[in-house]
Amino acid sequence: MYAAWFLFFVASSSANWVSSKRSFAIDYKNNCFRKDGQPFQYISGSIHYSRIPRFYWKDRLLKMYMTGLNAIQVYVPWNFHETVEGVRDFAGDRDLEHFLDLANQTGLSVILRPGPYICAEWEMGGLPAWLLQRSNIVLRSSDTDFLQAVTNWFAVFLPKMKPWLYVNGGNIISIQVENEYGSYFACDYNYMRHLQTVLRFYLGKDVVLFTTDGNTDKEMTCGTLGGLYATVDFGTGDNITEAFDRQRQFEPLGPLVNSEYYAGWLDHWGDEHAVVDAQKVSKGLAEMLSMGANVNMYMFEGGTNFGYWNGADHDTKFSPVVTSYDYDAPLSEAGDPTEKLLAIRDVIKMFKAVPLGPMPPATPKFAYGYVTLKKVGNISSLLDRLSAGPVQSKYPLTFEDLKQFYGYILYQTTLPRDLAEPTLLISPTNGVRDRAYVSVNGVFQGLLERDTVLVMNVTGRQGDILDVLVENMGRVNFGRHINDYKGLLGNLILGQDVLSDWKMYPLDIDGAIAGGWPHVVDLPDQANGPSFGPAFYMGTLQPTGVAWDTFLKMTDWTKGQVWINGVNLGRYWPTRGPQQTLYVPGPLLSTALPNNITVLELEGAPAHLRVLFMDRPLLNAAANES
Ligand SMILES: *[C@@H]1O[C@H](CO)[C@@H](O)[C@H](O)[C@H]1NC(C)=O
Ligand SMILES: *[C@@H]1O[C@H](CO)[C@@H](O)[C@H](O)[C@H]1NC(C)=O
Ligand SMILES: *[C@@H]1O[C@H](CO)[C@@H](O)[C@H](O)[C@H]1NC(C)=O
Ligand SMILES: *[C@@H]1O[C@H](CO)[C@@H](O)[C@H](O)[C@H]1NC(C)=O
Ligand SMILES: *[C@@H]1O[C@H](CO)[C@@H](O)[C@H](O)[C@H]1NC(C)=O
Repeated sequence: MYAAWFLFFVASSSANWVSSKRSFAIDYKNNCFRKDGQPFQYISGSIHYSRIPRFYWKDRLLKMYMTGLNAIQVYVPWNFHETVEGVRDFAGDRDLEHFLDLANQTGLSVILRPGPYICAEWEMGGLPAWLLQRSNIVLRSSDTDFLQAVTNWFAVFLPKMKPWLYVNGGNIISIQVENEYGSYFACDYNYMRHLQTVLRFYLGKDVVLFTTDGNTDKEMTCGTLGGLYATVDFGTGDNITEAFDRQRQFEPLGPLVNSEYYAGWLDHWGDEHAVVDAQKVSKGLAEMLSMGANVNMYMFEGGTNFGYWNGADHDTKFSPVVTSYDYDAPLSEAGDPTEKLLAIRDVIKMFKAVPLGPMPPATPKFAYGYVTLKKVGNISSLLDRLSAGPVQSKYPLTFEDLKQFYGYILYQTTLPRDLAEPTLLISPTNGVRDRAYVSVNGVFQGLLERDTVLVMNVTGRQGDILDVLVENMGRVNFGRHINDYKGLLGNLILGQDVLSDWKMYPLDIDGAIAGGWPHVVDLPDQANGPSFGPAFYMGTLQPTGVAWDTFLKMTDWTKGQVWINGVNLGRYWPTRGPQQTLYVPGPLLSTALPNNITVLELEGAPAHLRVLFMDRPLLNAAANES
């Protein structure tokens, strides 16, 4: 052992040898990173491949490079790759290696954040919901079930990353362990040690591993571990000197790193649209760079929470994240350079040369105009098409029990007695997760909502069919409520009766739509008039010769989900806001065939049944509604 070490020492002292060997390391003497022996300061931006169509990855990366960034920071959402336990998907929009390859070709280093928990305002913080099938599992801890699942995933995932490490010829310079672990209640060092051991086993002893935590003593104490380099995260509101002083308490020597400098912020349904001032962002960035600090801007390109991938916060009440993850970031949701990006580039220019040549322009947008939809039918009448059949149980089961983790499940029973007068339907345990749309014999009665609406009135007759369509609005991604089971978690009470003898229909809406359902040509013309309760609508956008990006505005619609050509664009909820339009990536559209638009409206559709394709986004109801 000694002899081998001695030879290595001699070899690496030779100047020629050093310059040809790829290395990335922490220099504790000079308080910096070293890449190939040279001091290296990263100016990085966060970008999530899971929130951008693969077609646009290269465009976004090039724009980041042209801003003067030399690195990107990337979260890996475990649940995006292993939606079904044991089935791992790395194809198409999930082809992380292709993304790494594009970044490498663009000249960007990669700071990889494989979690396993990532927060990211992503469904369940990136953890697969099937973990919740193990009752009482303590997520993000050394709970045996959790560790086993993580180890199985890492045993498949990490060997794929090994060739992409910088020392092995790739572009991954460092790897974050867990994510803001000090913010979590568990404070379980055995868990962090286990992750460290697994990462070192698959990736080698020399790779730079680090942690990221909010800059308070409690967070830094529970989130850091010997052998993992401790970094901090903070935004424009924090005092930079004090924040880095905190990092210094835990890392007296080594590079200063702000792993998440908040260049923007997220929106929740019902909140005001978040904006972070470009001048403040620039000023803070300049100050940190002048200190020689390494900075990652979170987000640099936010993208979109397509499908069911948005997360939720649960501080005082359940608060799901909107579909857009524009984040008021330097590159917009549609990947367009903003004033903020130009201001940031001006700051970077003061510290290093930025690449010559023009910033690639915004991608073209098109206002395709109005499309009128037809009603396909209410959801109760479409169960044959959408479900393989009900599961029966005396009391309600959860989504996790039913092994359908996302989307919508219909819970059905009958009224136990005549209800001539409005009678209260109650969720006594606040067990509706997260929103329930209630109909009697197909006639909409109202809704229940987690933490907000726990009672409503129902009328009907004994034996009438009671349909309760339950929507999973996205699992909590932060804090102690991440064991976020969905569906009806407790009994519903109607008047004096505990409702029982349920039929539960798991709904494979995405599968049906991807399979070509419904066919618009089959639909009769319908009488106009507003329509209430969960129902499907369908229409076609005629091919127009261009397939450019566009924004879908659901004017006068209430709340629901939209698919175009089988792709789930996400949720709309203009009545709650602030987001008013959904981003429609151009490559989804066909120039030759009619484009199929399918809408699941949950509450109420307008008489006109029109939707509007515009050439610009409206993310802030208050500012844009005039
Ligand atoms: C990354 O890019 C560099 C420089 O272009 C190249 O030498 C290297 O082979 C690339 N690595 C991989 C894994 O493609
Ligand atoms: C930041 O904190 C330091 C030390 O507490 C203080 O000297 C400095 O004035 C503060 N800076 C700002 C901008 O408030
Ligand atoms: C729901 O659809 C069924 C079958 O088409 C129909 O009988 C019923 O009237 C519809 N309900 C409403 C409220 O439109
Ligand atoms: C239910 O109906 C009763 C009688 O009409 C009314 O007083 C009460 O406010 C209603 N409750 C709800 C939650 O709608
Ligand atoms: C729209 O749906 C029709 C009927 O299912 C199908 O023939 C057509 O290919 C679809 N259009 C596109 C662009 O996928």
